Amino acid sequence: INLGETRPEVVKLGSGERSKDVDYASGDRGTRVRVFGRVHRERKQKEVIFVTLRDGYGFMQCVLTGPLAKTYDAVTLTRETSMMITGEMWQVPPGAHAPDNRELHADYFEIIGKAPGGEDAITNKVQAKGDAQTLLDQRHLVLRGETAAAVMFVRDAVEHAFNVRYHELGYIKVAPPALVQTQVEGGSTLFDINYYTEKAYLTQSSQLYLETALPFAGNCYCIEKSFRAEKSLTRRHLSEYTHVEAELDFITFDDLLTHLEDLICSVISIVLSNPRMAKHLQELNPNFQMPTRPFKRMRYSDAIEWLQQHDIKNENDQPHTFGDDIAEAAERRMTDILNVPIFLTHFPVEIKAFYMAKDTLDPRVTESVDVLMPGVGEIVGGSMRMSDYDELMAAYKREGIGAEAYYWYTDQRRYGTSPHGGYGLGLERFLAWLCGLHTVREACFYPRYMGRCRP
Ligand code: 4AD
Repeated sequence: INLGETRPEVVKLGSGERSKDVDYASGDRGTRVRVFGRVHRERKQKEVIFVTLRDGYGFMQCVLTGPLAKTYDAVTLTRETSMMITGEMWQVPPGAHAPDNRELHADYFEIIGKAPGGEDAITNKVQAKGDAQTLLDQRHLVLRGETAAAVMFVRDAVEHAFNVRYHELGYIKVAPPALVQTQVEGGSTLFDINYYTEKAYLTQSSQLYLETALPFAGNCYCIEKSFRAEKSLTRRHLSEYTHVEAELDFITFDDLLTHLEDLICSVISIVLSNPRMAKHLQELNPNFQMPTRPFKRMRYSDAIEWLQQHDIKNENDQPHTFGDDIAEAAERRMTDILNVPIFLTHFPVEIKAFYMAKDTLDPRVTESVDVLMPGVGEIVGGSMRMSDYDELMAAYKREGIGAEAYYWYTDQRRYGTSPHGGYGLGLERFLAWLCGLHTVREACFYPRYMGRCRP
């Protein structure tokens, strides 16, 4: 088959901002193009083979007819085979359906890498035994499916939107270390590592480092991995997760809550303003609704009363009392019944981290907030930070933390302290809520949790 003197331009499949959008649909027949991709689907008929090609940018229906449809490579074509096709773009005939309403009428194709059929066909690998563990073992192949890929696209858009919103607000991004020698959220979930001959940990949160950026950067943020040795298997706990954290200087607790509302709603608006993402979200979570502001605010003490009134018991199967940790199951039931985003605030000092500022009006409690979302529960944990040196020293003592290793953190209270606060948002939990996922594992490229560290 004669390719002609000039090889046609290579175009990416799909339409939208990632592809040069050629207006094939309205033009005359005849735009010749060359496309590369993998066979997403194929349908063989007597005289014609329909191939849906996928290249990560989009999909394109390609039609092989005549002698092309009779070649050995065409009649043995399998899903996931990579290939190059040249041909003419046509608008799809009335009544027919194809991605972006167009199809490529092939005049030539080349196989680049064949994929196995039969026993080893991708459909057998990822569908036949569809249990969760098999799917995770085959995650590298599952990701080629439309749903798993859509979540990855939304994930990228959400992370981008956080960067956009923070920069609109004038926040500076910093890159704290992952290898550390201090704990932030308690010793029980620390991953130890042998750092040459010294003991070190994988970071649980970049918060303490972010606080040290305030004096030179002002409001700042980071999007980094955090690690937790969570010894339980739940729908929302990972061993490695992406943590969106920010610190705000010279603020009040109320400023922190207002900022959180703005951030969450702005990020969703930015994501939805991208038509491709809006479409993915509509498909992944058709019932998603933009939360209304202001979010419901509920003090911890009122939540305890609410749980008592609704006969939701604590982990020991007793009625909740002030001072109880509200466990995942109870928190979830409450969030699902109320069915709106909730700012749960003012947790008791005893159940919260050492660095949290006390409420001046009620020193039993901290100026702390968990943001709870229906279907997931807690997606954000934040607080005002202790700004007084002596109080911080007492807090180390209370928690049995050796102050020496924290000298760099303590120095923030010595060299010009300030009222400040911040938060950490679990990106996978945010995505589970936004995309309506059953578990945070589906929001990960390759999830890590107790018992799984591969592929
Ligand atoms: O509430 P956490 O433990 O708070 C902190 O780490 C603070 N130092 C953050 C800060 O103020 N800069 O964690 C914050 C969020 C949680 O709300 C949750 O969304 C997520 O991190 N998270 C997890 N996500 C997945 N798997 C886990 N094991 C998680 N642990 C926390």
